Amino acid sequence: MRRILVLYYSRTGNTERMAKAVAEGARSAGNAQVELSYFVEADDLGGFDAVLVGTPTYHHDMPIDIKMLFEEAAARNVQLQGKPAGTFGSFGWSGEAPKLVMEIMKNKFQMDVAKAPLLAKYGPDAAALDECRLLGKQVAEILNR
Ligand SMILES: Cc1cc2nc3c(=O)[nH]c(=O)nc-3n(C[C@H](O)[C@H](O)[C@H](O)COP(=O)(O)O)c2cc1C
Repeated sequence: MRRILVLYYSRTGNTERMAKAVAEGARSAGNAQVELSYFVEADDLGGFDAVLVGTPTYHHDMPIDIKMLFEEAAARNVQLQGKPAGTFGSFGWSGEAPKLVMEIMKNKFQMDVAKAPLLAKYGPDAAALDECRLLGKQVAEILNR
């Protein structure tokens, strides 16, 4: 069975709510086992067929946990080339982090980033959660191609 990772960081729960909806959407595609987690070992990243990362923006940046994961994955030469990927996250006023993560996934790891980062200002409303479900479903469906 294919495996999809929905990895997220969240301090006050906003990105976590988005992550749960993304995972729900990915599960609805019915083609993969979906793991929702706030921690993964860099070495284990390579075992997933698709990766979605949820990151809030703090101080115009991604949280250190997310940055360290990709640092370590790069140092260990983890191979993610061609794997479907997506990013999302809650923000307050600038919201850079999901774009920064997307650029790393695309440019450093040559992942297949299908969609622009999905952003929600502070707490995601019903429409934002619907978009999260759609993001998860669409990334999962790429695995059917
Ligand atoms: C200390 C601090 C710094 C922040 N810096 C930024 C920032 O640079 N840009 C931004 O868009 N939002 C910023 N925010 C707002 C958070 O991104 C926002 O509260 C978001 O909903 C947090 O998501 P979370 O609940 O998943 O942790 C900051 C919030 C705090 C408390």
